[in-house]
Amino acid sequence: MALERTFSIIKPDATARNITGHINAMIEDSGLCIVAQKRIHMSEEQARGFYAVHADRPFYNDLVAFMTSGPVVVQVLEGENAIMAYRTVMGATDPEQADAGTIRKVHAENIERNSVHGSDASETAVSEIKFFFSDDEIVG
Ligand code: CMP
Repeated sequence: MALERTFSIIKPDATARNITGHINAMIEDSGLCIVAQKRIHMSEEQARGFYAVHADRPFYNDLVAFMTSGPVVVQVLEGENAIMAYRTVMGATDPEQADAGTIRKVHAENIERNSVHGSDASETAVSEIKFFFSDDEIVG
């Protein structure tokens, strides 16, 4: 398997608790490399666009409000099989369902305030990375 990239967000529940370094340590301990990252305040337009796939879900407006409620850290992660590798490190969306030792099991507050986002497939990884980063911001 060739090197792959995936997109990650450390969410406002995690920045509010000052645990971005703990989460980055869990990412790096898994073997993934952080090849780009920046701390931003997501605009409502960005949050609505990024999560447009969930626009019809009952939790969409709450999710947009949450994602714009404080700073986030957007990241590009690189490694072998990075998309699946990061999904394993994150654990299930709902922390109650997440495996022991995963970021969401250790840090998430609930299914919405679940500390991290990661791309679910190669096409979404490419489009999510492009949503927040230009090529020259990524240093592999
Ligand atoms: P994420 O991986 O960023 O993708 C969509 C987000 O919507 C998810 O993490 C959660 O933050 C949120 N989410 C998913 N399912 C629910 C739900 N049932 N109730 C509230 N929020 C949810």
